[in-house]
Amino acid sequence: MKKKIYIYALLLAAFAASAFIQGCSSAKETLANKSGAQLWSENCIRCHNGPSPTEFTDVQWKTIGMHMQIRANLTSTEAKKIVEFLQSAN
Ligand code: HEC
Repeated sequence: MKKKIYIYALLLAAFAASAFIQGCSSAKETLANKSGAQLWSENCIRCHNGPSPTEFTDVQWKTIGMHMQIRANLTSTEAKKIVEFLQSAN
């Protein structure tokens, strides 16, 4: 009897873990499909006012992108998309 409960608990834990892992991978996917403008509006206002794309030159955005990729904990793809969006406005 006790063994059965243990097996059920194990199955439930395995199911929960797989749902959790799938949830994470699908969240990553939608994030990867986002445009630079979308990523910018969602990530760059968390800590300060969102900088206007015309505020800095293309070269400055490249450096700022590397700096803020670390601050905002973004992937290099996300940071690249944001920088491209910010540069396209100049
Ligand atoms: C986790 C907080 C945080 C997030 C998210 C964040 N920043 Fe920043 N940002 C800062 C801080 C703090 C500074 C002040 C400079 C420093 O000490 O890093 C700053 C400074 C800046 C500056 C001034 C120039 C510079 O490099 O110091 C710009 C422009 C900027 N951020 C743009 C952005 C963009 C674009 C994003 C989105 C990709 C972003 N930030 C996301 C915290 C953040």
